[in-house]
Amino acid sequence: MPIYYNSETKEFHLQAKNVSYIFNILKNNQLGHIYYGKKLKHRASFNHLYREEFRDNSTHVYEGDQTFSLDQLKQEFPAYGTSDFREPAYQILQEDGSRITNFEYKSHTIYYGKPKLTGLPATYVENDEEATTLEIILYDAEINAEIKLLYTVYEKLNVITRSAEFSNHGNENLNLTRALSVNVDFFDSNFEMVHLSGSWARERHVKTRKLEQGIQSISSARGTSSAHQNPFVAIKRPDANEHQGEVFGFSFVYSGNFLAQVEVDHFDVTRVQMGINPFDFNWLLENGESFQTPEVVMVYSDEGLNGMSQTYHTLYRTRLAKGKWRDKQRPVLTNNWEATYFDFDEEKILSIAKDSKELGVELFVLDDGWFGKRDDDTTSLGDWFVDERKLPNGITGLANKITNLGLDFGLWFEPEMISKVSELYEKHPDWLIQVPNRRLSHGRNQFVLDFSREEVVDYIFNMMAKILREAPITYVKWDMNRYMTEVGSNELPANRQREVVHRYIIGVYDLYERLTTEFPEILFESCASGGSRFDPGMLYYAPQTWTSDDTDAIERLKIQYGTSIVYPISSIGAHVSAVPNHQVGRITSLETRGNVAYFGVFGYELDITQMTDEEKEIVKEQIKFYKDNRELIHKGDFYRILSPFEDNVTSWMVVSEDQTEAIVGRYQVLGKPHPGYDRLLLEGLNPDFEYQIEGKEATFYGDELMHAGIHLDRTMGDFTSQIFKLSKK
Ligand code: DGJ
Repeated sequence: MPIYYNSETKEFHLQAKNVSYIFNILKNNQLGHIYYGKKLKHRASFNHLYREEFRDNSTHVYEGDQTFSLDQLKQEFPAYGTSDFREPAYQILQEDGSRITNFEYKSHTIYYGKPKLTGLPATYVENDEEATTLEIILYDAEINAEIKLLYTVYEKLNVITRSAEFSNHGNENLNLTRALSVNVDFFDSNFEMVHLSGSWARERHVKTRKLEQGIQSISSARGTSSAHQNPFVAIKRPDANEHQGEVFGFSFVYSGNFLAQVEVDHFDVTRVQMGINPFDFNWLLENGESFQTPEVVMVYSDEGLNGMSQTYHTLYRTRLAKGKWRDKQRPVLTNNWEATYFDFDEEKILSIAKDSKELGVELFVLDDGWFGKRDDDTTSLGDWFVDERKLPNGITGLANKITNLGLDFGLWFEPEMISKVSELYEKHPDWLIQVPNRRLSHGRNQFVLDFSREEVVDYIFNMMAKILREAPITYVKWDMNRYMTEVGSNELPANRQREVVHRYIIGVYDLYERLTTEFPEILFESCASGGSRFDPGMLYYAPQTWTSDDTDAIERLKIQYGTSIVYPISSIGAHVSAVPNHQVGRITSLETRGNVAYFGVFGYELDITQMTDEEKEIVKEQIKFYKDNRELIHKGDFYRILSPFEDNVTSWMVVSEDQTEAIVGRYQVLGKPHPGYDRLLLEGLNPDFEYQIEGKEATFYGDELMHAGIHLDRTMGDFTSQIFKLSKK
């Protein structure tokens, strides 16, 4: 088993493929932390790595003993108020006003497999040999409460997952005012923090900053994981880059408010924490109740950021995403949003579908505007029945016609939202997230349904299920287009109002669970104004996500590059859209738009009927190329080569597992005058294989392509791109 416990030294040693994680039981029976990093040979004791003997100006746990201070120790799951002054992993407010707790080690178990987290998405195993789990019970006798720490080691990957469960067995009410999922204390602070930040239409840009003493953090308080900060943080050594060096990634399997925090203390110890954002959070734990925190997936890499990303890709593609569509080839789609917006009728839709089919498209997706009386964004959310003015034959009628063309049919919903101009609002004005007697802010003229209430989730489930049962629908785009304000629920008592956002997300997960269970054949794509909820929680139910409302090929270089830091290529929705681009007004060639969108889940989002014959020929070729290569693109090892955040040129590539095939994308933003040598160094190839590059006569060995590179001809013009397809001879 890759988890050892030494009962004499009271040490735990977790080993995954190339990583060790070591901690111990301290003399006050709380947990200390010893080491997290490159794999160490197992030995009887790692006690020498653990230092208790500091003597300086501090506070100490035991009277008469000047040597034991939690302020000076690395810890596993720390509390505040008993000599550690850094931010804690949790805090519990008791009925007498005390926040002091004393959770001591009580017991542990080690077993093969990985337990499910009730009501929450999480990574899983297909058979128990894939992973080993350690459960540790910490107990506070004074309040009769338990914390269960869960660690799962995926032996063949550099992955350790963690979460915690708080249980109240006592008679008094407890309030969890902070309940994070993970805490790791590192020896030093010689790190940089990497995170994925941005905004609507420029999501997940890669940001890197040097750690300094004090707290640095990213978070969301928007009710979703957000476009502004992604629930991911890594710390890396300053010399680590895409290609080499040590990186520690932390990714949160959650879609609501989160915190990812890095605190550097007075000894340069770095404390990384991640979990539900404690800001505006409180959870009441009554007698007999438990609270399960969502999972954090920790990935270690000594092969730079690419090494970390490849591990996340493998795990998330195969053991987070679930269901029939996990491994199936994803259909090339046409979506009508940027083609028509709200202005369509059956005839228009059928004409786009027909032309799409002729070019090789496999799935037609009808976006927003098909229900209620929705001609713009002011009405109808919640009225999930067809607008017969636009579609006189109903969704079933349209879907049948599209299916008869030989295409699959997909449909857009925004299940969590309500418009005030809607039948649903007339019936249930109290179903909104709102606070009595306070003005209610809107986003895009819409309001948020209170998914913390079961009856609301039930109602929406029934409306959606009715349509999905009746019509031949194989795909659903689940959108969510605003952040939460004036957060409150009409159903919950005053002392549970700070639970609303988490309960809401649990409601969203519940609806996803019910729909994916009843409709296992349907491919779900999640979306939130593009990529405002591109997170591992969503990926569990929906194996692909609409990456961004920004469809401009040049903007997409940054967005897709950043997204690939954590998320597999098979999850990154990427469409070719019209020019001038609707978000930035830029004109790029159809080739470049295709060459960028290939590295994702490919589709078209423009009015195909308006394309020239010449353009249609290009589209045909693009679709053929994509179909021929999608298996490789989605399942191969992805390497980022040149970063759009550093250079005029971006490049990335995928290599098949057996290294016999690869596809390289190279994109140049601006043309350059009088250039010197231009070569592209590839990665991940087999140095001894002889590769043929499609379109070139000469062949090249892998070592040559990786160390001398592909020598490039000069390309004139802005926004140019090239794709190289390599095959072993
Ligand atoms: C936001 C999404 O990101 C778009 O793709 C589109 O579905 C619109 N919503 C529809 O309102």
